[in-house]
Amino acid sequence: MSKKVLVTGGAGYIGAHTVKALTEAGYHVTVFDDLSRGHPEHIPGIPLIIGRLEDEKAVMDVFESHEFDAVIHFAGESQAGESVSKPDKYFRRNVIGGLNLCSAMVRKGVNRLVFSSSAAVYGDPEQIPITEDAPVRPKNPYGETKAMLEKALAWYDHAYGLKSVSLRYFNAAGADPGAAIGEDHEPETHLIPLVLQAITTQKPITVFGDDYPTPDGTAIRDYVHVTDLADAHVLALDFLENQRRSLVVNLGSGRGYSVLEIIREAERVTGKQVPYVIGPRREGDPAVLVASSEKASQVLGWEPKLSSLEDIIATAWAWHLKNRVD
Ligand SMILES: NC(=O)c1ccc[n+]([C@@H]2O[C@H](COP(=O)([O-])OP(=O)(O)OC[C@H]3O[C@@H](n4cnc5c(N)ncnc54)[C@H](O)[C@@H]3O)[C@@H](O)[C@H]2O)c1
Repeated sequence: MSKKVLVTGGAGYIGAHTVKALTEAGYHVTVFDDLSRGHPEHIPGIPLIIGRLEDEKAVMDVFESHEFDAVIHFAGESQAGESVSKPDKYFRRNVIGGLNLCSAMVRKGVNRLVFSSSAAVYGDPEQIPITEDAPVRPKNPYGETKAMLEKALAWYDHAYGLKSVSLRYFNAAGADPGAAIGEDHEPETHLIPLVLQAITTQKPITVFGDDYPTPDGTAIRDYVHVTDLADAHVLALDFLENQRRSLVVNLGSGRGYSVLEIIREAERVTGKQVPYVIGPRREGDPAVLVASSEKASQVLGWEPKLSSLEDIIATAWAWHLKNRVD
């Protein structure tokens, strides 16, 4: 019997790639999404319920009218910069929305949840690579909302037996190797799609800061292929079914690249020049964020397969050329 999974935010970037992986793994998927940032055409043939997580009744209705074995929760606002000027939007949509989902699950006895957390919970880390026992000290409301939901989930497990896997993604990047789906945000704030847009539009991108304490002065991040992230969700569902305990785990490639290294690699992979200018640092941006993904490997059996920088940029470029999202 195929298992039934509700995917909130399943029409979004990581969500749509995960819906594809789940379908390929034999899951029966229903998506709940308000389409504020999602694309229904990225989930062809998948039942889609349009609604907002902040709408408690709408969320409860989904559970009244469907049966689910598990939930994967992607839906939320995710622009760290915006969250500083609009914290109300972030706490309402991410925290109240997330709690509405958890309440409905508890009321209907659905007790397995995979939650999209973020490296943003770590703030400015003391040690690189970052392990899951590093202090949780978010530096913006976005990271705070992720940390709050993680903490709530620990108490929901304690009181109600709701088991969860919180996946702390680092920088999701790349596109499905078939180029049928990929990253399409408006506005786009992620580096790799911005670099590719700069190539096709010839409008320079701004590199935020070249005076960080890094070898070339630009900030270093850990880029992980979206298809590898999607696979981790399938493994997380297996884990919850077999182990019946909660878990917090990082998902990154374990390698960091500076902004200038990304630009150089994009030029090499595409054969085109990337126009850019240097601007000031962005407030609250740490110099280096690189994950230790050892726990994901040991506990979930997860190994990234497509997360070399070359594969990430090549798949993102193929998607970009096919869809010209600029
Ligand atoms: N992309 C990354 O690098 C990254 C890194 C760390 C964590 N995350 C987290 O992973 C999740 C997915 O990220 P993404 O890049 O795919 O984002 P996305 O914006 O592409 O997808 C989010 C989806 O959720 C929907 N949505 C948002 N708020 C909603 C609400 N209140 N009710 C119903 N639907 C709602 C949107 O329409 C969209 O389809 C987010 O929770 C994000 O915070 C992403």
